[in-house]
Amino acid sequence: MKALEVKQLHQYFEKGTVNENHALKGIDLTLDPGDFVAIIGGNGAGKSTLLNSVAGSIPVTHGQVRIAGKDVTYQGVAKRAKLIARVFQDPKAGTAPRLTVEENLSLALKRGQWRNFWAGGVKRRDRDLFRQKLASLGLGLEDRLTAEIGLLSGGQRQAVTLLMATLQAPELLLLDEHTAALDPQTSATVMALTEQLVAAQHITTLMITHNMQDALRYGNRLIMLDHGQIAVDLKGPEKEGLTVADLMRLFKAQSGAELSDDAVLLS
Ligand SMILES: Nc1ncnc2c1ncn2[C@@H]1O[C@H](COP(=O)(O)OP(=O)(O)OP(=O)(O)O)[C@@H](O)[C@H]1O
Ligand SMILES: [Mg+2]
Repeated sequence: MKALEVKQLHQYFEKGTVNENHALKGIDLTLDPGDFVAIIGGNGAGKSTLLNSVAGSIPVTHGQVRIAGKDVTYQGVAKRAKLIARVFQDPKAGTAPRLTVEENLSLALKRGQWRNFWAGGVKRRDRDLFRQKLASLGLGLEDRLTAEIGLLSGGQRQAVTLLMATLQAPELLLLDEHTAALDPQTSATVMALTEQLVAAQHITTLMITHNMQDALRYGNRLIMLDHGQIAVDLKGPEKEGLTVADLMRLFKAQSGAELSDDAVLLS
């Protein structure tokens, strides 16, 4: 079974108006279980729109989305949430700031069912699990179980968010520039954690990044979006050993246009 199948996906914004924007133009994308895909492309290429379409946070104009064999095209975001975990750029987006680290992790364990959470509080057995998982991150967070999560640094918080996202392996993990708000060193730490957590449970992952080196280094597949279309798609051995220069050459061969650094990097 395929982990994700996107077929002939088109997304229009403000269709039929003067502001009509054909943001995705017939995306075909199939992921095998355990694929870890880095997605790159210039500003406005359609990367976030693709992830939003997969997550269900914007309705699909045309096409189909299947997750783990299930047609979710017309399912809303809440229904798909059972299958999907997301981490965004903003470390504040993924956690409840006034709750403690262990309370946030408890919520993740119960998949956000607040009622069950408040009824039970944090169980000792869960606490032991959290301590062990946090220790494996290597950031000393196992000693901060009862700290309000809002008091952690951006990098620590993003690490906990990743742990929450993967505590129960989702069918799909969606990362939208999840290290972009962090300083380079913290970003590297969170990327290494990402790889560790994804590999441990073979989680199928789509990761948008503006960092070319991360895109080349992490994952078994690399996709470049350009003006709403897949311009480059390289997997396994094709991706290994690839350089930025190779990518630029491939892009030119595919799109006919010259790829400036700005088109791929944040600019
Ligand atoms: N909710 C929306 N309403 C109208 N237009 C939108 C909306 N979301 C995205 N767009 C447009 O769709 C296009 C693709 O945007 P998208 O956010 O997917 O790009 P991106 O590749 O993620 O870019 P970035 O690297 O800047 O995050 C852009 O032209 C953008 O302006
Ligand atoms: Mg984006």
